[in-house]
Amino acid sequence: MITRFPIDDALALSTQAGWNQTRDDWIRLVSLAGDGVKGVMDGGRLVSTATGLAYGTDLAWIGMVLTEEAHRGRGLARRVMRDVLDDLERRGVRCVKLDATELGRPVYLKLGFREECAISRWRREARAVQAATSDGFLDAELLALDGEAFGADRSPLLRSLAEVEGHAIPGSGFAMARPGRTATFFGPCVARDAEAARQLLASFLARHGSEPTMLDLCDDHAAAVSMASDAGFAPVRRLTRMVRGDSKDTSPLIYTCAGFEFG
Ligand SMILES: CC(C)(COP(=O)(O)OP(=O)(O)OC[C@H]1O[C@@H](n2cnc3c(N)ncnc32)[C@H](O)[C@@H]1OP(=O)(O)O)[C@@H](O)C(=O)NCCC(=O)NCCS
Repeated sequence: MITRFPIDDALALSTQAGWNQTRDDWIRLVSLAGDGVKGVMDGGRLVSTATGLAYGTDLAWIGMVLTEEAHRGRGLARRVMRDVLDDLERRGVRCVKLDATELGRPVYLKLGFREECAISRWRREARAVQAATSDGFLDAELLALDGEAFGADRSPLLRSLAEVEGHAIPGSGFAMARPGRTATFFGPCVARDAEAARQLLASFLARHGSEPTMLDLCDDHAAAVSMASDAGFAPVRRLTRMVRGDSKDTSPLIYTCAGFEFG
């Protein structure tokens, strides 16, 4: 049991794995997940961690499952995952999902998760761009659209991300953006149709196209795949979305995801 979560140790773990999260990403996740953040300490240092973020009782997302290289293969991830799952069970969460790397997949299969679909991270290298378009706001209508798409209320997460950067087309969709350790991240992007999603991505790229950028999308979402490749993104990592409990398929209204740790 950790009383005060050591953010710097956690950032060292995600950086060792080559992941994109920044210190601010960890702070956001820990403040949203609260008691759902678990870890194992050794010699005063965090050596293994996992987070379970409950979106009410409909859905929870597991993320940041990390064990320091020197401590792997000793059952630490299994132990931390059990803590997270026990906690979510106590809270009555009906469905738990996560996006699994190749290293994580065997751990989750043994814990009763099953495969749902492939999800890929795409990256776009920096290019010169011109012009910028204006941002919108996250209103009640867009929050309702997200609830319809995501199948659970994640408004605290969206409000937190909107403080960093949001793009919106009233009534049609929104997208969030945030800095990353290696690339600026675009997502979630939720839209009523492909044209709106493309406009949101264009608005993001008008501001960030001259930086490396990344997004995560489900491989079977053809409109999202063509949107990303038309804009110059290319796949760099493939993960497996996995589920435990009552299943809900990912909605086609979700063009890009919030990040592997958020869903
Ligand atoms: C995935 C990761 C967290 C596993 O951590 P770990 O502490 O070494 O895992 P554990 O020792 O608790 O292993 C749990 C179970 O999965 C199995 N397992 C773990 N890694 C495995 C692998 N690469 N191949 C096959 N089985 C594996 C273990 O044998 C163990 O099974 P058991 O309980 O029946 O003995 C670690 O490899 C890691 O940090 N990787 C980099 C980051 C990453 O990809 N995280 C997953 C994100 S989805």
